[in-house]
Amino acid sequence: MEQYVIKGGRPLKGEVVISGAKNSALGILAAAVLSEEPVCIKNLPDIRDINVLLHAMENIGAVIERLDAHTVKIYSKNVHPMAVDDEYIRKIRGSYYLIGALLGRFKKTQVVLPGGCNIGSRPIDQHIKGFEALGAKVAIQHGMVIAEAPELSGSHIYLDIVSVGATINIMLAACLAEGQTILENAAKEPHIVDVANFLNSMGANIKGAGTDVIKINGVKKLHGSTYSIIPDQIEAGTFMLAAAATRGDIIIHNVIPKHLEAISAKLVEIGATVDEMDDAVHVVAPERLGHTHVKTLPYPGFPTDMQPQITTLLALSEGTSIVTESIYESRFKYVDELSRMGASIKVEGNTAIVDGVNRITGATLCASDLRAGAALVIAGLVAEGFTVVEQIEFIERGYENFEGKLKALGACIEKVDSGDERALHKFKLKVG
Ligand code: EPU
Repeated sequence: MEQYVIKGGRPLKGEVVISGAKNSALGILAAAVLSEEPVCIKNLPDIRDINVLLHAMENIGAVIERLDAHTVKIYSKNVHPMAVDDEYIRKIRGSYYLIGALLGRFKKTQVVLPGGCNIGSRPIDQHIKGFEALGAKVAIQHGMVIAEAPELSGSHIYLDIVSVGATINIMLAACLAEGQTILENAAKEPHIVDVANFLNSMGANIKGAGTDVIKINGVKKLHGSTYSIIPDQIEAGTFMLAAAATRGDIIIHNVIPKHLEAISAKLVEIGATVDEMDDAVHVVAPERLGHTHVKTLPYPGFPTDMQPQITTLLALSEGTSIVTESIYESRFKYVDELSRMGASIKVEGNTAIVDGVNRITGATLCASDLRAGAALVIAGLVAEGFTVVEQIEFIERGYENFEGKLKALGACIEKVDSGDERALHKFKLKVG
C-alpha cells in the first residue's frame, strides 16, 4: 500500500495536460466486444480502473495488444459471454457495461455484479428495465446478473432516473437489436456522446446522444474502428479547483472548455478568473475567494464527481457556502477528515454548510473514495505543514500520475510506501 505525503503552502503554477476520460473509456472498452473485428482505442487513461477492465476483458477471451501506455488494440473475435465470478469485474463499477455489450452481441450473458466506490446505494434497476424492454429475461442469482433473450427487439424506454450507466448500457445492448429503440430521459454527459460516437464509428446508428432522447436504429453487425477518447472533464475540473485552492495560476491543456462550464461558472462566481482557449483553460485565483451555493445535478449541471473538490475549495474561501448533493446519498464522508484539519463544515442530510476558514493544518487522512481522495490532496496542498493521504489506491483508480502532474506544477508531494518511516522522514528533511 502506498500513500501521499504533501507539504502544503505552495501555489500551483505552470501547465498540465489532461488524460483521456475514465468514464468514457469504460464504456468504449466494453463496446469494443460488440464487434468481431479489431478496434484501436487511443487517448486511453493509464489508470487502475481501465487496467482492471482490460484484465476482465482478457478473462472473457479478448486479446489486448498494448501499443503504448495510452493506446490499445482489442481483438474480440474469441470473446465468450460468460464472465462468471471474475475478481476484476467485481472491483469496478464500469464493468457493468460488459452486461449490455455481451447481451447485445450474444443475446445472453452472465456477469458478476460490479463494485466501485462506496458513495451510497448504487442500484442497477434502470439498466435491467432497459434490457427487459428489449426482450431479455434478467435474473440476479448468487451475485451474478444473468440475462438472456431469444432475440433483442427495439423498444420505447423511459428511464425513471437520469442514469449515466443505464443510458450507456442500453445503447450497447440496443445497437444490434432488431428495429428502433427510443430512450427517453437519457443522461446527457459528455461521455454518453463519446460512447455513441465510438459505436457510430463501428457502424451503429445512434442519434440524439447528448440530448434527453436517444434513437438507436439496430444494425446487423458492427465493424472495427480506430477512435480517440475525449479528455477527462473531472480530472480537468480537479486541477482547476486545486489551482484556485492554492491561489495558483495554471494552464490546463487537452480539455473541452464547454464540458467544464459548470465548474468554470462557480470559480468565476467566487472571484477566480477562467480564460477559455480552443482546447485549454487558464485559471488564476486571487488571494481572497468568496462563497457560493452548489447543487450537484446530471450534466450540464454541476457534477457530483466534483462535489468533494468544490466543498474543499469553499472551506478555504470567505463566507458561508451551501453544497447540496442530489445524486448520491453518502458522498460527504470526507468531511470528517477536512474537519480534522480545521475546516468548519456541518453536514445535514444531503447538504453541507461550509463556513470558510483562512487556514487549515496538515494531518494524516484516509481517502474514502476516488473523488474524496482527490479533495483531501487539494486540502493537503493548502494546509500548513505535512499531510499524509492514505488509501491512495482509490485516487489511482481515476487519476493518471496525479502526484507527478502536481509536482510538475510546483507542489511538494511524494508517493511513499505506507509504513516506510524512512521515506517519510527523508521527504520531510528534503522539503523542510
Ligand atoms: N440509479 C438508480 N438506478 C439505476 C442506476 C442509477 O437508482 O439503475 C441512481 C444512482 O443510485 C444514483 C443516480 O441514479 O443516485 C445516478 O447514477 P448513475 O447511473 O448516473 O451513475 P453511474 O453510472 O453508476 C457514473 C460514473 C460515476 C458518476 C455518476 C454520475 C462511471 C463508471 N461512473 O456512475 O463516476 O458519479 O455516473 O455522474 O461512469 C467517479 O468517476 O468517481 C464516479 C463515481
